[in-house]
Amino acid sequence: MEIDTEVRLEPAREEDAPILADICKKAFHTDCEVGAPGPGVGGPPGYDSPEAQVRFMGFLDYFKIVVNDALLGGIMVGSAGKTHKVLERIFVDPSHHRNGIGTRACEILWDLYPDVQVWTLGTPEWNTRTSGFYEKLGFTQIGWDLGNPDWRGRWYQWIRDPSASHELAKVSDLRAGMKNVTIEGEIVEKSEPRPVRSRRGEPLSVSNAALKDETGRVVLVLWNQQIGWIGVGDKIRVENGYADSYRGIIQLSVGRIGRLIVLI
Ligand SMILES: CC(C)(COP(=O)(O)OP(=O)(O)OC[C@H]1O[C@@H](n2cnc3c(N)ncnc32)[C@H](O)[C@@H]1OP(=O)(O)O)[C@@H](O)C(=O)NCCC(=O)NCCS
Repeated sequence: MEIDTEVRLEPAREEDAPILADICKKAFHTDCEVGAPGPGVGGPPGYDSPEAQVRFMGFLDYFKIVVNDALLGGIMVGSAGKTHKVLERIFVDPSHHRNGIGTRACEILWDLYPDVQVWTLGTPEWNTRTSGFYEKLGFTQIGWDLGNPDWRGRWYQWIRDPSASHELAKVSDLRAGMKNVTIEGEIVEKSEPRPVRSRRGEPLSVSNAALKDETGRVVLVLWNQQIGWIGVGDKIRVENGYADSYRGIIQLSVGRIGRLIVLI
């Protein structure tokens, strides 16, 4: 299929939500052909819900993929800073898979964000299709995202121009109030988890780890399951985390939108 001039990305609108949810549902249901543990199991949160598509439009850049004026898919982008975006989700109508539409949509996306140097994304370990898709686009797996209880996620990165500088934050740069913090280092200490209560009274576990890079070390606050994901000696990345100050000491947290990646 000659698609070069036919694929467009347009901002998704509320009225597109039912058809986007329908395409998304059909697309993810084909995951059982590429390694999913069962039908629909691979679908990410809200994948089949029109209401969820509307919610996503509220906090992500959500584009529809239009081919020859027909709506054939969607693509969602999250932000981890001015020069770092996260490809949160892409789906193409399964009756048009393997025609180069997904690839073309991504190429158009890179051009829509010319200042973005770093793109990252996660995909389940079992998904042979997405690994093939992202690797052909130039992504490299840099680590594991253990945030899903049922499977490991491969964490991929693509750098537009590897010769340009795209410095990660360093420990010595961290200041209270910093957001969109992406930083790598080694875990050199981890405290025993201790029970605490949230403001609403829920029981939680918290552990303080120490993250070290060549400029120093900082407290990394781990909550609940995160505590079990990493151990002393692991090289990790906190992506899109934040720094604040507790009793005068800077500490780093992964937060609701951040990711804790165990580097390979
Ligand atoms: C992933 C997805 C968006 C790819 O869209 P697409 O338009 O079919 O992709 P393309 O035709 O551009 O494929 C490009 C390359 O990806 C790889 N690829 C695509 N499908 C593949 C498959 N089933 N198995 C292995 N590799 C595959 C191939 O290298 C392919 O190049 P080739 O056809 O020249 O061999 C589509 O399969 C999809 O909607 N999947 C369900 C939803 C999903 O998993 N989304 C990603 C996670 S958020």
